[in-house]
Amino acid sequence: MKLQNNTILITGGTSGLGYEFASKLLTLGNTVIITGRNLAKLNEMREKLPGIHTFQSDVSDPEAIIQLYTDVTTQFPTLNMLINNAGEMRTISLNDPSTNLTDITREVEINLMGPIRMVQQFLPHLKKQSNAAILNVTSGIALMPFPISPIYGATKSGLRSYTKSLRVQLKNTGVKVFELVAPGSSTPLNDQFMNVDGFDPKMMMDPGKLIDTAIKGLENDNFEIYPGLAKMIKIMSRLAPAFLLKQAGKVGAKIMENEE
Ligand SMILES: NC(=O)c1ccc[n+]([C@@H]2O[C@H](COP(=O)([O-])OP(=O)(O)OC[C@H]3O[C@@H](n4cnc5c(N)ncnc54)[C@H](OP(=O)(O)O)[C@@H]3O)[C@@H](O)[C@H]2O)c1
Repeated sequence: MKLQNNTILITGGTSGLGYEFASKLLTLGNTVIITGRNLAKLNEMREKLPGIHTFQSDVSDPEAIIQLYTDVTTQFPTLNMLINNAGEMRTISLNDPSTNLTDITREVEINLMGPIRMVQQFLPHLKKQSNAAILNVTSGIALMPFPISPIYGATKSGLRSYTKSLRVQLKNTGVKVFELVAPGSSTPLNDQFMNVDGFDPKMMMDPGKLIDTAIKGLENDNFEIYPGLAKMIKIMSRLAPAFLLKQAGKVGAKIMENEE
């Protein structure tokens, strides 16, 4: 797809991959709108990225999505691209008896229900635009379980499956459906893992390089984009899934056993 003169909404644009997307898509000559929950971070982005538009909005809240839709489509009726990027990843021990039933599914609300609801709300508008697209950010962890983050992995596998179905259902519309299968990258999402046993920060891809690959993929209409190690995970998940799971299961072994 053409990546100039679009009007692009990015959820979670205040840090990490969302920030890189916002900054690079602005430079390419697009109108870019970002969301996030933290107002101070959104204000900071307006100083860092002149020309950016911001809305405070929580993707796990259906009422907030309806309000965001009204505000964005009123102020930016040319909106033609949605990037579902906002996400959260936690280390969770399923052996911890104190985990409560509301908190345990928080990532499902943000990472899976969030994009599904955003698409449902914005799709009728996107269908009326030319050069329309949806990009869902999944993860290498959509292709292999990562036991220390069991709910996160479930949400990304779920989002991958949903994205494939969405692409089939929209094949006779003008809306292109992309999936960015992001490998581990050095963003604030991974700060929590730095001291976890078995975690190797050297495996993390630079977020700027990751988004450069994503942008090339969008421009070339590669509907599933696999930057860096994601390509290898894709192959290994087919050839040696048990080996991959064994390796992934070594990260945070003590936390999973609820020993620390
Ligand atoms: N970094 C990696 O290794 C990696 C690998 C594969 C996939 N991914 C995926 O890439 C996406 C971005 O991750 P990242 O690494 O860039 O993380 P990050 O640096 O922690 O940024 C997350 C962004 O999402 C926003 N956000 C979180 N919860 C939100 C909510 N409920 N509503 C609206 N915005 C919300 C955050 O802002 P507020 O906190 O202010 O809301 C922030 O702008 C996620 O979907 C993640 O799963 C990341």
